[in-house]
Order: sequence, then C-alpha cells, then structure tokens
Amino acid sequence: TTAHIGVTGLAVMGRNLARNFARNGYTVAVHNRTATRTRDLVRDFGDEGSFVAAETAEEFVAALERPRRLIIMVKAGAPTDAVIDEFAALLEPGDVIIDGGNAHYADTRRREADLRERGLHFVGAGISGGEEGALHGPSIMPGGSAEAYESLRPMLESIAAKAEDGTPCTTHVGPDGAGHFVKMVHNGIEYADMQLIGEAYHLLRDVAGFSPARVAETFRQWNTGRLDSYLIEITAEVLSHTDAETGKPFVDVVADQAEQKGTGRWTVQTALDLGVPVSGIAEAVFARSLSGHTDLRSASGHLPGPAASPLAPEEAERFAEKVEQALYASKITSYAQGWNMIRSGSDEFGWGIDPGAVGAIWRAGCIIRAAFLDRIRSAFAARPDLPTLLADDHFGKEIGEAQADWRSVVATAVGHGVPVPGFSAALASYDALRSERLPASLTQAQRDFFGAHTYRRTDRDGSFHTLWGGDRSEVSSD
Ligand code: 6PG
Repeated sequence: TTAHIGVTGLAVMGRNLARNFARNGYTVAVHNRTATRTRDLVRDFGDEGSFVAAETAEEFVAALERPRRLIIMVKAGAPTDAVIDEFAALLEPGDVIIDGGNAHYADTRRREADLRERGLHFVGAGISGGEEGALHGPSIMPGGSAEAYESLRPMLESIAAKAEDGTPCTTHVGPDGAGHFVKMVHNGIEYADMQLIGEAYHLLRDVAGFSPARVAETFRQWNTGRLDSYLIEITAEVLSHTDAETGKPFVDVVADQAEQKGTGRWTVQTALDLGVPVSGIAEAVFARSLSGHTDLRSASGHLPGPAASPLAPEEAERFAEKVEQALYASKITSYAQGWNMIRSGSDEFGWGIDPGAVGAIWRAGCIIRAAFLDRIRSAFAARPDLPTLLADDHFGKEIGEAQADWRSVVATAVGHGVPVPGFSAALASYDALRSERLPASLTQAQRDFFGAHTYRRTDRDGSFHTLWGGDRSEVSSD
C-alpha cells in the first residue's frame, strides 16, 4: 500500500492527527522514534481506518505516494531540526515536509529557506485545538509555498474543523513563517483572553462576593451572549467542579501559579522587535510570571491594602453586568492588538496575510474559537484596508457603549485592591489611542534636552533641536 500522508512523532497530538486523517479515508503512514508507540497506535486504533506502520525512517518514506507528504509532530526546537535532517536526506525534489508543532516562526523561515535550496517544500503549520482538536478537527494555519499548500489542501480541508457555515478552518496563510507567526499570535491572544477571564472571575468573587458556583453560573449565562466562546464555556466547567478529595471548589485547591511553555512570551518578544504595542498580551505573560514568583509574593504579603468589603447583594448583580461589559471591551481591545501585530508581521516579512481569513479559520477548532471571530472576519471582509478592529463601526459602537462600565469596573477594582492588569492595560490602550494629544510630546522634548535627539513640530515640516544649554533658540537639524 502507498500512503497519502505520513505522520512521524506519535505523542498524543501526532497520534490524534494521524487518526483524524485515517478516519477521513486517507491511508496514513505512521512512524515514531521508538517503534512501540507506532505498534500501539495500530493495535488500539487500527480499525478506524488505513494505517501503514513503519519501523524505520526508510520504511516510512518508502510507504508514501509521490510527491511525498509527511508531517512532523515532535517537540519544537532542536528535536524538530534533528527529525527534519533525518528525513530530508531520504526525500526527493518536490516532496513536502510539514512541521505541525508550535515552532518559532523564525525557525520556520530558516528551515523553509534551507529546504527550498534542496528542492524540498517546507510547510510550517500552526495547529490549534489541543488533543481533542487534533482528533476531531483543529484549526490549521499553514505557511509555505502556494504550490505545497495546493497539494495538501484537500487533506487539510477534510481534517480541519468546520465553521458554522461549513467552511473548513484552514487556509494558505502565507509564505514561509506566516503560519507559525499567526499561530504564535493566536496563542498570545489566548493568554490575553485567559487573563481577562481570570480578572473577571477575581472581581466576581472578591468584589461581588460570589461563590465559585455562582461565578460559574454567571459565565454560563455570558456564554449565551456575545461572549459565547470555548474559553468561557470551559471556565464555567472548571468553576463548577468540586474537588473529590476535599469537597472544596476545585479552583480553590489548585496552586495559584500559572505556567507557560513559551508561545505567549515569543509573541511579546516579537512584538517588541516589530515595535507593535500588544499590552494586553504582555500583561497576561507578566501576570503568569508574577504568579509563579513565590519569593516576591511572600516578601510582599504584609503590605497594606484596602479592607476587604464585598458589595451588598443588590449592588453585586449590577456590578456583574458591568464586569461583562469590561470583559467584552477588553477582549475587543486585545484582539485588535493581536490583529495589529499580524498586520505588522505581514508587512515586515512581505507575507500578504489576509486578516479576514485569519478570523475565518479561528471560528472553530482552535482554543480561542468564539462567535465573535465571525464578526472579525466580516469586519475585514467588508473593509480589507481596515486599519485596526477598533476602527470598525460595529466594534467601535460596542466598545463605546461599554466604556463607562469598563471605567467603573477598573475604578472599583483599584478601590478594592484587586489587580486587573488586563482590564486596565486594555482601557489605557483604548484611551491612549483615542487621545488627541499624548504626553509623548514631553517625552520627545526631554530626549531633545538631554541628548539632542531632536523633535518634529506640529506646525511645520522638518526636524529641530533647541539649544537647551545655551540661549534656547531653535535650530533646524535636517
Ligand atoms: C492550542 C494551544 C496549544 C497549547 C498552548 C499552551 O492552540 O491548541 O495554544 O498550542 O496548549 O501552547 O500554551 P502554554 O503552555 O504556554 O500555556
């Protein structure tokens, strides 16, 4: 038998992806460094479709129809390079290697260029949706040559999640690193979303005085409205879960330290390099790292704050409604920042990414899937040159209607000593963007004062310097 596609690296993501292809009628060659995993897959799931178990890399490559298409599902970084080297040596011009891991887009660019020189196609595909998504339909973000994408398209479309209108959640994102870049930003948005949800939960508990079960109920209700999303849905599930051992709310027995594997950090590092402000994502990454700093936290635990005073029950209901507004407005702001970053990466690397198409393929399958994504898709479809999501009439109107409650929630949080870095950074970004004048004029003047860094004027063109140490006259510095 010749296989349509091969999957090497059969940890849970690779295994589920292989099963997804097989369940969709494709013959799948499967391979793993330790062959027991390969045998286990065929033993446990062989009846789901057609698998060709390959013990060695040579057998694996020999099992594939031409042009060969093989997906690597191993750890990002050095393990991925090692596997690429091993297989590239066995392939022939025109064959396609797909990296389905969470690779850094810069690594993908390097690998794509190397393999292109050797006549091979390299597709860096972001795959979102966790284990369940890999099996039942992930959102797939492939980057690479258009030719390679075309040869994969039918297979990717068939295994991808389908949006409500039936469209498969995959598209040719752009050349080389475009797919992994977009996946990275997806994860950055995921961090920001999770942080905002966490802040809403914190406020509902400590300010509104709700029990975890009541907060779960609130989230469940929000999930029937404009916040309808996978992350809100699982939040309600987590909050209504009781720890079997202690009988306490599960959320109260989990250590309050959030870990990270690195994609959120990459998003922020890359944003700094591109000079694009993504404060919501940055605050989310910092909030996770602060939570893990037990040293700093225990050294600061004695510091004073306001006395705890939950709201009266009659105020709490209204406050919860305001929190929904604040959460939604902050979410729009974070997503706008994420899309600004996609545009900036696309411009920097000449990828030509279609912002609306990104919204379209995130509608289902991925971790940030939400009803909201279809509105982002349509905002960019209606106006492909939309400079930012906040400039969309619809989102602009919604955020305008939410802004008073948003401010009130941030002010209440500050008054109660509840940290809301995500809500407040989003609000600060909103206010800064709509400000006619920013104090950046002062910053620039200070730079000119101490370093003769020059400034531009509001009333005429050119570049100027004031002789601060002399008679303070202005000289042109063009
Ligand atoms: C996805 C997820 C997935 C992974 C995250 C978790 O899209 O399916 O984003 O890629 O669960 O990388 O990231 P952290 O471990 O950094 O929270």
